[in-house]
Amino acid sequence: MDMLGTETAFEVLAKAKALEKQGRDIVHLEIGEPDFDTPSNIKEAAIKAMQAGYTHYVPAAGILELRQAIAEYLSKSRGISVDPDAVVVTPGAKPIIFFSILALVEPGDEVMYPNPGFPIYESMINFVGAKPVPMPLKEENDFRFDNDDTAAKITEKTKMIILNSPENPTGGVLNKANLEVVADKVKNRDDVFILSDEVYSQMPYEGKHQSIASLPSMKEKTILLDGFSKTYAMTGWRMGYAAMRKDLAQKITQLMINSNSCTCAFTQMAGIEALRGPQTESKRMVEEFRRRRDVIVAGLNKIKGITCKKPQGAFYVFPNVKSFKMESKKFADHILQKAGVAVLSGTSFGAYGEGYVRLSFANSVENIQKALKRIEETVKEL
Ligand SMILES: Cc1ncc(COP(=O)(O)O)c(C=O)c1O
Repeated sequence: MDMLGTETAFEVLAKAKALEKQGRDIVHLEIGEPDFDTPSNIKEAAIKAMQAGYTHYVPAAGILELRQAIAEYLSKSRGISVDPDAVVVTPGAKPIIFFSILALVEPGDEVMYPNPGFPIYESMINFVGAKPVPMPLKEENDFRFDNDDTAAKITEKTKMIILNSPENPTGGVLNKANLEVVADKVKNRDDVFILSDEVYSQMPYEGKHQSIASLPSMKEKTILLDGFSKTYAMTGWRMGYAAMRKDLAQKITQLMINSNSCTCAFTQMAGIEALRGPQTESKRMVEEFRRRRDVIVAGLNKIKGITCKKPQGAFYVFPNVKSFKMESKKFADHILQKAGVAVLSGTSFGAYGEGYVRLSFANSVENIQKALKRIEETVKEL
């Protein structure tokens, strides 16, 4: 158990809540979830489903109609053909990360993953006794991995390559050349899988989302992970899914049987409405995130000592705070204690996050402006 990591966002949230209990006013920019309510058509679909009796066990891989809706959505959005039998629905996107690594990775295998990146990747790689091989995402490269470095790190021991685009925590988006380098190196390897975490697929601010699964020969090698949490503001509903090789889908389903039995039945019925119903609310949310992104990036760049790249996707900024010559964790703590703004240290996302902090802009423009003002006043004294 000592090998298992964690997600610091929840720890910082607890610290911030403790300060609030003491009467402090805290602006929450630490947690990665849309601040919008789940669209009402989706909530109504869940209520109707509950009343119609969807309150019992359902198939472990997911209700067929939902898997059909997901297969249609993935086929259309990624330009590939996905069969409902290749889809597994899980309580959140996270279990797919957990199950895929558990199912495919053996002690001693190498797993490549973005760093800074979603902390659960490194945690799970370590947990199964595999070797984590970081793919550094650097600011000077717009938080994309270096193609030559990545190509050189793919060895005969590589078992899995984890990609995440748009990326948490940097807001970076991989380009076609990045995807092609990986695809070229693994297309003739039967022993390598790609875990492509695309939970922010509906939130690119420039151009269209690209999936490695769309490249020739890559669909069968890719576990294409997406979900409802971010796109439809459904974090608390717990529902995600992935499309993968059918034989692997059966094994992941078996892990579902051994752990959860199935994903909540009425939540799944609401998922059908989310995918097939009107998309206006979800699109409006993305437009609002774009507006907030512009506010927070401009505001941070005005603060002496902070520089911030414009994220190309997701709802996070990853400003550079190296000029303060403080460890990121200390800097983040200082901002929480002194400014009353909860942010995460870049190192919560891996060693390559040193020198940065992550701010989520899934908060109102008013709160973002309040946070910017307080940060500016606090860092003046450093
Ligand atoms: C990159 C990434 N993958 C997966 C997840 C997990 O999503 P879910 O809440 O659907 O489990 C998150 C949530 O923050 C994330 O940022």
